[in-house]
Amino acid sequence: MERGYHVAIVGATGAVGLELLSILEERRFPVAQLSLLASKRSAGRTLCFAGAERSVQELTEQALAGVDFALFSASSSISKAFGPIAARAGAVVIDDSSAFRMDPNVPLVVTEVNPHALQHHQGIIAHPNCSTIPLVMVLKPLHLRARVRRVVVATYQSVSGAGARAVAELDRQSRALMTGEPASVSVFSHQIAFNCLPHIDAFGELGYTGEEWKMVRETHKILEDDSIRMSTTTVRVPVFRCHSEAVNIETEQKVSVQEVRHLLAAAPGVAVIDDPEKSHYPMPITVAGRDEVFVGRIREDLSHDRAINLWLVSDNLRKGAALNMVQIMERLCAETGR
Ligand SMILES: NC(=O)c1ccc[n+]([C@@H]2O[C@H](COP(=O)([O-])OP(=O)(O)OC[C@H]3O[C@@H](n4cnc5c(N)ncnc54)[C@H](OP(=O)(O)O)[C@@H]3O)[C@@H](O)[C@H]2O)c1
Repeated sequence: MERGYHVAIVGATGAVGLELLSILEERRFPVAQLSLLASKRSAGRTLCFAGAERSVQELTEQALAGVDFALFSASSSISKAFGPIAARAGAVVIDDSSAFRMDPNVPLVVTEVNPHALQHHQGIIAHPNCSTIPLVMVLKPLHLRARVRRVVVATYQSVSGAGARAVAELDRQSRALMTGEPASVSVFSHQIAFNCLPHIDAFGELGYTGEEWKMVRETHKILEDDSIRMSTTTVRVPVFRCHSEAVNIETEQKVSVQEVRHLLAAAPGVAVIDDPEKSHYPMPITVAGRDEVFVGRIREDLSHDRAINLWLVSDNLRKGAALNMVQIMERLCAETGR
């Protein structure tokens, strides 16, 4: 055992859990002991970490004892049931479900945007939705420079955002349809292969879905500004990995396209790829596996002189999930030793 931390991954066998394993290894996070936790179904299965096979255990209260960092990535109900238990047992909980995001006592953190919020955590830190993260990373520098007044955003979200079963469903349906077989539907409400579903999470207030409300409320909490007016449409598309967003941003002061490019190119964790003449712009197939939020198609809004349009793409399993969680741990370790 090397010097380091006891890290538990709750949901280790899921889409985000597996990405957490590879990011911990890639970034050489000092893991002295690793607990891989999942449902009873996965108990005994092995996963590879740092060249060794490790057994998955069933998530129980006892399995959370002695843990320094508990990375929760299973579901809201699991986080609500076991997150407080882990925190009471002394772990710092980093939770990527929606269980605690809007709790006023729980910081909701994107490391490049509001790391200061980590200072007052009480054992549980929430990680935002995978569509909110890239959006706030792009809004923050513009808000600081010219105050963002209104945002209109439409998302194009990959199936991996809905977990490992959703990835398998797109794969299975695509193969079936290409060979003339019927596409069976189980995860989504309709066929996802060769289709787009304007429906992520349950429909709620005013005809907006839960995912659409999450983007609004989480953006307000992270940027600490409820006055930003927002309109959101979230769409599931038949892409395996990476979420894209078409964003219209209205600012109080006018900012030129050139200045927006400079501000975003200088923003931490953001990269600009914007050369339309050469057909250079971010796309899911080029952004998959990358850490940055990529932005392109930056242009003036033809209908408004203080608004711009842009296109962003971010790997939902990395910055939208596992990477931000590991970066939160890294910050805590750097600042407080934990
Ligand atoms: N996917 C993304 O891009 C993304 C981004 C941000 C946040 N999130 C959030 O991350 C969480 C996990 O998402 P995912 O995409 O990784 O889902 P997933 O692929 O469906 O994985 C779910 C994980 O939860 C485990 N689990 C299910 N029931 C359990 C139980 N009763 N006890 C313990 N573990 C249990 C599963 O274990 P078994 O294999 O044993 O069933 C699996 O490891 C969700 O809350 C999601 O909202 C996901």
